[in-house]
Amino acid sequence: MTEDKNDRAAWLQGPSARCKVEPKPVANPWRLVLLGPPGVGKGTQAALLHARLGACHLSTGDVFRAARHRNDCDQTPAMRAAFERMRFGELVPDATVLEMVRERRACLCCGGGFILDGFPRTVGQAKSLEEVLQKEGIPLTGVINYELPVSEIVARLSGRRTCAFCKAVFHVSERPPRVADVCDDCGGKLFHREDDRPEAIEIRLQAYDESTAPLMEFYRTLDLLVPVSATGSPEEICARTVIALGEKTK
Ligand code: AP5
Repeated sequence: MTEDKNDRAAWLQGPSARCKVEPKPVANPWRLVLLGPPGVGKGTQAALLHARLGACHLSTGDVFRAARHRNDCDQTPAMRAAFERMRFGELVPDATVLEMVRERRACLCCGGGFILDGFPRTVGQAKSLEEVLQKEGIPLTGVINYELPVSEIVARLSGRRTCAFCKAVFHVSERPPRVADVCDDCGGKLFHREDDRPEAIEIRLQAYDESTAPLMEFYRTLDLLVPVSATGSPEEICARTVIALGEKTK
């Protein structure tokens, strides 16, 4: 792992862990939510935006996947049930997600800001997040909604490879690692996510339409929604995002 890369230990392992590199507190930290269907490129953009804006990349999917690789005794029955649902592409129940995020509340209050990826994913989760942020007096800067046709989404998911160690994301043809199945950033082994099977992709897209798409209206009403096209290279999309955020915060 490179020195400047935030290891997100407090987020991934829980509040008792300390991040090796903590984001520097800044006057007006970016506090962003990334919305968009599975596979649109939220994780890829979060990593690029972290490099550009400094805020920490907080993915709920990464927390669940990290917990899965921990000792069985450390896993609660609710967590084990959550892993089963993830395998099939279904959403984890709100109660489990919210408990996990509440335990990591300090990451939301971090002086370097945050980029939430995969949370909130239901209107119930979005309302809980609003309550927490209002209580802490830390409003969101914006909610980026990435848009892409379904055919491109399926192609991105089918070719995705993820680093088992640092969670960096690659694609077999669009963003191949320098050495096959080895992470460019940390040398970790790349794996094909279980929920990237065609049957699970279909269920995830359905869950997105039913539970997550209504969040667009929720955040539009709060005047926080920033639509961004997710076509083109990751760097082009990142540049587009930064411009759209600049317009939003003018
Ligand atoms: P999560 O891990 O959040 O997955 P997701 O939302 O389905 O999103 P993905 O990680 O699949 O895609 P992405 O948009 O980040 O795309 P990526 O950058 O990787 O959640 C997994 C599961 O956990 C859920 O199904 C649920 O069960 C559970 N869960 C998590 N949070 C939850 C919550 N809050 N509530 C309930 N359940 C929850 O890119 C995809 C691929 O495309 C990569 O290979 C990448 O290299 C490639 N790519 C990216 N950008 C481009 C580009 N511009 N051009 C070409 N290829 C590109």
